[in-house]
Amino acid sequence: RILILDFGSQVTQLIARRLRENGVYCEIWPFNAASDERIYDFGPKGIILSGGPASVTDAGSPRAPDCVFAMGVPVFGICYGQQTMVEQLGGKVESHHAETDGTDGGREFGRAHIDIVTASPITDGLWTVSAKEQVWMSHGDRVTKLPAGFSVIGQSSGAPYAFIANDERRFYGVQFHPEVVHTPHGGQLLKNFTHKICGCSGDWTMESFRDEMIAKIRKQVGKERVICGLSGGVDSSVTAVLLHEAIGDQLTCIYVDTGLMRANESQQVVSLFREHYNIPLIHEDASDLFLTRLAGVSDPETKRKIIGASFIEVFDNCTARVGDAAFLAQGTLYPDVIESVSFTGGPSVTIKSHHNVGGLPEGMKFKLVEPLRELFKDEVRALGIALGMHPDFVKRHPFPGPGLAIRIPGEITREKLDILRKADTIYLEEIRSHGLYDAIWQAFVVLLPVRTVGVMGDGRTYDYACALRAVTSTDGMTADYFPFDHSFLGKVATRIINEVPGINRVTYDITSKPPGTIEWE
Ligand code: XMP
Repeated sequence: RILILDFGSQVTQLIARRLRENGVYCEIWPFNAASDERIYDFGPKGIILSGGPASVTDAGSPRAPDCVFAMGVPVFGICYGQQTMVEQLGGKVESHHAETDGTDGGREFGRAHIDIVTASPITDGLWTVSAKEQVWMSHGDRVTKLPAGFSVIGQSSGAPYAFIANDERRFYGVQFHPEVVHTPHGGQLLKNFTHKICGCSGDWTMESFRDEMIAKIRKQVGKERVICGLSGGVDSSVTAVLLHEAIGDQLTCIYVDTGLMRANESQQVVSLFREHYNIPLIHEDASDLFLTRLAGVSDPETKRKIIGASFIEVFDNCTARVGDAAFLAQGTLYPDVIESVSFTGGPSVTIKSHHNVGGLPEGMKFKLVEPLRELFKDEVRALGIALGMHPDFVKRHPFPGPGLAIRIPGEITREKLDILRKADTIYLEEIRSHGLYDAIWQAFVVLLPVRTVGVMGDGRTYDYACALRAVTSTDGMTADYFPFDHSFLGKVATRIINEVPGINRVTYDITSKPPGTIEWE
């Protein structure tokens, strides 16, 4: 297992991905989150220091815990990670200011090339001396003096120390980012580090993760009862199936029906879990409560707050019915828990955290079971497959906790929900029948609070307009609109207008994220 210490780079998560793709188990911890004791206890075969937005030349900028360099395990520093390693081991890093020294200061952003100048075990079988490699750079600072024992493996025009090594202590540093796809052999370089330098066997798979997790859950939970909230989405479903594998009938699921789900969704969830998996399930139809409380409300944040608070209230009531449960299982994923570390120029560190609808109310008495905390969405899907779940189910698009409420800007009514459900069903039917579902991250219809004039047959219509949305994304953080053929869009528009009373105009949203968001609210 490998420990990744995070200095706040945008792409730290990609390091973990590359390692898992290479069959290596790893965990990402914020650089300052763990005591030396916890790091020793984790027993890493190697440590990777991520990039980050700070400058090591600034007072109070982050440093790796000293034990990292004292444990005798291999260390691989990337960008900021390289620079802090150099600094901490007695070398030098400088910021270059183009304004004062009249050059570009050695700053490099984007594609660059490095020349391999020395052989090292870490490039064994991958790069030979005099090879020229494409890499991705993003740095303003650079190493200007190596610590004792280090030599240069590769250099670029802007970074004479683009790739450095102390082969004896097995410390390596790169100025470029091997974890991004723009460094074509970066994944292989990380594999050389984990396999050849750290001695990882590379036999970690989703099946091993499943078995490890089942054992861990049994140990954590013992004979106690566990409650799991189902949302109908992939994450909570995989959590429930995993728990059921681990502890069988000690698990009870709760499904709160908010009345804000898509067509037939509630019935599908209930029959899957009750009938197919035979998991005890409380199906709480709270749609009246949600829709009554939402009546007349159009401010997006107020809607979210009402839904969040009502969800917790209903969920809490249901848990009381289960009685003596000690644990609550949640399908929290790595991107939900990552505490993005931000540096405000000084020593202070601000931790932002992501809160989700259905989060734990303060003072709730449960202990948490969160078996997916270290995984990314696509890995959760792979785990679902490893658990024998149907591929169509695990490949479902993400669906937001507040449901259709945030896809109806303005006031929510039963009538609007019905109109939206019909249009959404047609849109997704067409996407599936054209074989496009898996190429899209999320696709949905937004019912606009706008009525427009139309003509159907010989009559005038005055009905709602809707917007179709479809985006590609890898993590929901950034997104591009999906480039449908015009003929596809035309077909969907015609079907919606012909088949859904209440809609007489269809538009396609071509906003990317940023500057837009995926949802409209
Ligand atoms: P945005 O609209 O911010 O959405 O670009 C990014 C991703 O998050 C989903 N989303 C939510 N999921 N509770 C959720 O569980 C929410 O309140 C929420 N808001 C947005 C959205 O569907 C997309 O996948």
